[in-house]
Amino acid sequence: MSIHQRLLIIDFGSQVTQLIARRLRELNVYCEIHPYQNVTMQFLRNFAPKAVIFSGGPASVLDPGAPRPPEGVFDLGVPILGICYGQQIMVEMLEGKVESGHGTAEFGRAYVSARTAVALLEGWFHAGDEQVWMSHGDHVSKLPVGFEAVATSPNAPFAVIGNPKMQCWGVQFHPEVHHTPNGARLYQNFVRMAGFTGDWTMGAYREDAIAKIRAEVGDAQVICGLSGGVDSSVAAVLIHEAIGDRLTCVFVDHGLLRQDEAKEVVAMFRDNYNIPLIHADEAELFLGELDGQRDPETKRKIIGRLFIDVFQKYADRIEGAEFLAQGTLYPDVIESVSFSGGPSVTIKSHHNVGGLPEKMGLKLVEPLRELFKDEVRALGRELGLPPSFIGRHPFPGPGLAIRCPGEITRAKLEILRKADAVYIDQIRRHGLYDEIWQAFVAILPVRTVGVMGDGRTYDYACALRAVTSVDGMTADYYPFSHEFLGETATRIINEVKGINRVTYDITSKPPGTIEWE
Ligand code: XMP
Repeated sequence: MSIHQRLLIIDFGSQVTQLIARRLRELNVYCEIHPYQNVTMQFLRNFAPKAVIFSGGPASVLDPGAPRPPEGVFDLGVPILGICYGQQIMVEMLEGKVESGHGTAEFGRAYVSARTAVALLEGWFHAGDEQVWMSHGDHVSKLPVGFEAVATSPNAPFAVIGNPKMQCWGVQFHPEVHHTPNGARLYQNFVRMAGFTGDWTMGAYREDAIAKIRAEVGDAQVICGLSGGVDSSVAAVLIHEAIGDRLTCVFVDHGLLRQDEAKEVVAMFRDNYNIPLIHADEAELFLGELDGQRDPETKRKIIGRLFIDVFQKYADRIEGAEFLAQGTLYPDVIESVSFSGGPSVTIKSHHNVGGLPEKMGLKLVEPLRELFKDEVRALGRELGLPPSFIGRHPFPGPGLAIRCPGEITRAKLEILRKADAVYIDQIRRHGLYDEIWQAFVAILPVRTVGVMGDGRTYDYACALRAVTSVDGMTADYYPFSHEFLGETATRIINEVKGINRVTYDITSKPPGTIEWE
């Protein structure tokens, strides 16, 4: 168990509960989200939170059987903050009143005004009313004894309420979303009032995680599938710090990597970390089975299946392997226990070596399962991974296969690698790499006519892709200048034999996806 000061977020199913955790982690406060069904008094006692937050949620407290925390939460004597539904359930349980409808629902931007100066809202109202984001049908109509309204909005007379003696606070809006611009300050005030000292740092996390891995793994051997991406690399380096050479990494090179990628990944691990590493060069196998395949789903399935076979082949050679390390992140963990979804969709199963643990009787070690993506990057920095490695754009498990619509040939892959390298070089030279979530070239299954010098060309067309995104779920195309695009097209055509036409993909996601297949 973590030795940090801990805050518990009880999840009532809001779409934005994860953002509460983000805001708190940014304040160096350790928190965990748990669905309300799991939060019993026993759980609360074991968890020993220093403060509790009730999230929002889609239910109405007026419904029979409305979700609620255990009554005893109010007897813990720790500060509690209720957000939206969380505020309403707090009021209802403490014998105030909640009503629905009558034109008081609010969705979207609203402005709250101060009524009483309280520490929770310190730093608010300097410039007058504060913008907040409302999303509620029901509203509080009568406060419980001991509470007062400390801020109001036109449709929510009880926009912010509090009982300083009980240390219970409630807000009708969502301070965790961007549309409540000063929301982070509210969380900062709350955790300061609760006595958090901001002890959740990457340095501390690293030490805790190492101790945990040692306790979990004992004397056994661990294997880790390396993709060259940030998550598996950070997991590997962390586990290596914990158990040294009892970790073996397997890097499967399926022949669908970018230019110099295998060399860079292998060098980084061999030279900088001295981690036992199997470089499984299986390009023949993968490209052989992909030969002649054009259907995107068929290609993906072939790659997923072969990946597991190959991994198993190498893992079998490591005697005494009992554990498989994975770079599972916190958003995946939350999703699997979410309020509404239950154990749900498998995310990137082939990438996470899905199916293998059960097949081989391996137990999982997942040292990043408490972290968000940007925290993994921070941990990587803490562990001394080179910045160029940490800041790398995501790269999909099936690699260049899904950037090569239609048939995959070695010749096309070679052209694609070269064009991609020129494009990324352009992006770096213009200082744009870190502004972009992901950028790559796709080689199109079409050849077009061109003229170079005095001669006719008949070569492939390619598409440049660059998107901004927060999590890859939605994305916007990156607004390059025409000058940049023109210069890049010229360089690709001049430097890459086999391409005579360059296009820029300006599709957002949705309706497009980021990758072409
Ligand atoms: P799409 O194309 O679905 O991609 O918009 C969203 C993000 O996921 C990556 N991606 C994958 N990553 N295995 C992975 O590990 C996959 O099969 C896969 N397919 C897409 C993609 O690169 C983007 O970052």
